[in-house]
Order: sequence, then C-alpha cells, then structure tokens
Amino acid sequence: MKVTIVGAGIVGAAIAYELGSRGARVCLVDGVGQGATQASAGVLAPYIEGHSSSLLRLGLGSLHQYDSFISRVSADAGRPVEYRRLGTLQVARTGDEVRQLKEAAAALAASSVSHACLDGDAARALEPALSGSVCGALRVPDQGYVGVASLMSALQAAIARQGATLSTARVTGIARRGGEVTVETGDDPGAADALSADAVIVAAGSWSGSISMSPAVSPPVRPVRGQLLQLRFPEPPFAHVIWGAAAYLVPWEDGSVLVGATVEDVGFDARVTVAGVRQLLDAAEALVPTTASVVLDGARAGLRPATPDQLPIIGPSSTMPGLYFATGHYRSGVLLAPVTSSMVADLVLDGRESADLALVRPDRTGL
Ligand code: GLY
Repeated sequence: MKVTIVGAGIVGAAIAYELGSRGARVCLVDGVGQGATQASAGVLAPYIEGHSSSLLRLGLGSLHQYDSFISRVSADAGRPVEYRRLGTLQVARTGDEVRQLKEAAAALAASSVSHACLDGDAARALEPALSGSVCGALRVPDQGYVGVASLMSALQAAIARQGATLSTARVTGIARRGGEVTVETGDDPGAADALSADAVIVAAGSWSGSISMSPAVSPPVRPVRGQLLQLRFPEPPFAHVIWGAAAYLVPWEDGSVLVGATVEDVGFDARVTVAGVRQLLDAAEALVPTTASVVLDGARAGLRPATPDQLPIIGPSSTMPGLYFATGHYRSGVLLAPVTSSMVADLVLDGRESADLALVRPDRTGL
C-alpha cells in the first residue's frame, strides 16, 4: 500500500516508521519544519499531564509501549536514543500545592501506582539541589523522558533505511481523484502525482487546519506557543525530572538541563521572547537556585497543536475515503507517538480499530 504522510514531526515520523516496518511504501512530506517537536523537552509523565481520563488512558498505553518502541527504532536506525525512566519529582512550594499533590497521591494509591509522598526535607535529601522553599513532593518512579532530537534522528535514519521518500513541498490541499488521494502543493505542481497515494495521513500539527481538503473539513487545531531553555551544568544536578507549578526541568546525561515551558496564545508566532526566557529562568531558579550560575546554551520555541477538547484527533475522515487524521496532540505528541503510530497503522493497513480509537475519533469534531 502507498501512503503519504503530511507532516514530519514526531507524530508523522513515528507513523512513517510504523507503516514502513509493516511493509507500506511511505512518502513523508513537510514544507514547514518540526513545529512543536523541535521545542519539546520529551517528558513522559502521563500521571502529571493526563488531565482527563481519556488522555491519562492514552498516555499510559503509550508509556507502556515506550521501551519496545525505543529499542526497535534504535536497532533499526543503528544508533542510540537518550531515553530514561528515571522518575519524576513533582514539587510543591505552597500549602495549596501540597494539598494538590496529596490529592494526586490519593488517586495514584487508588490505582495501585507506585509513588512516594515526601516533605520538604525528605525531597531535599533525595535531590539536594532543590530550593529551601520546596515544602512537599510526589515521586513517581515509572515516568521519565526521551531526548527528542536523538529520537527524531533515529526515526529519520530508520525511515530512510526502510526506503521512504521525503519531500519538502508545502502542502496546500488534499483531494480525492481517480481512486487515489492527491496531495496538492503550492510550490511544486509536479509533486501532486508523486504524492498521490492509497491513503493520506494529516499529521501536520498546528498547520493541519490550513490545508484545504474539500469535501472533508480541516481539523480545528490552533497553535499554542511553548518556549524552552537549554542550560548547561558541569554535571547532572539532579536525578529526576523536576516538575513545579511554573516550570519543569529535565536533566540529560551530559549535564544539559531543559527548562520548559511557556503556554502562550500568540498565533503562528514561533519566536523566542525576553519575557518568555525571563519567566522560565525565574521559575527554574525558584526550584533549583544553582540554575542562576550556569551557562544558558539556548532557547527555542514551538507551536503545540491544540484542539477544543485538548485531545488528539486520530482516525478516518467521515467524508473523504482514504484520508486520515493524526493531529492535535497539543502537549503530548512525544508521549503519544507510539500509541498513535500503532493505532494508525492498524487502521490504515488492516482496517482494525483499537478500543482507544473511540476516545480520539475525528467524527467527534465533525470531521
Ligand atoms: N508536554 C509539556 C509541554 O507541552 O510543555
């Protein structure tokens, strides 16, 4: 089967990899860039970010697939991926935040999820870099992070080895013609034939809504900017992902620490701002005071694709046969990449609908 995927960020690349692994002929087209992916800190924390029961269920299903996803991708690519389930430490600096952590701990206990509640001193005994203002913490050992740049380069290498073709044409429209789905590009009219396929999957994140796909309706996705800092410590300053109310910090093995992220409704503006950098530096210093004295290696911004109900849109178009959506992953594209890619491959290649597809089907948004 020939499949064209529009969008080569983490979701599009993971789908390309999964389809290629199962024998599909894949073309990946992206004239925009990686969108949200290139500014993702790669936190894998469904117990923190699963704000609804549906998102929690999808996130846990995907976390469960992560070990085998990473080993397959890195074996097929012939290169390592930085991936560590080192645990998260969610910290509180106010009485209200302590109460929220206790509620979260009660929910974890009710589901028999391994966790530990700590007071401020116990949190600092575990992570001495934490500020004296931390007065409570919740440790969840099963969570962690993936180095998104290393995962993306491994996916790209694995996809190339599978023989996928890549195009940097900018997609303007998708239409059904002569038994195929045709992808139209503004800058390269000749590309349409090459990009036509038995199935087309829209995985273009925030840009998914700007592709015309009559008679199908474009997905209701809007950009939400996230700015991210990269700091450099002489050695890793802590051993968990630290998650506070205003920022999270991810410690890489080489001493880099990622600090994320702002949440800004500024349209398609992916610039880094002084206010965003200042907000993240202040929040990081409040959690880990030594951040003030280390090197600022860089700052970047990405546009997260948000949907009205903050759940992704995954599945078939109800009006255009052969058109599928895998978009709108908002804050969870990296976490949900394995479950999304397996659901889409099951559906497109075998017509199999997993039970979780009911949570994210496009027809709930009129698509
Ligand atoms: N998943 C974290 C974020 O989007 O900031």
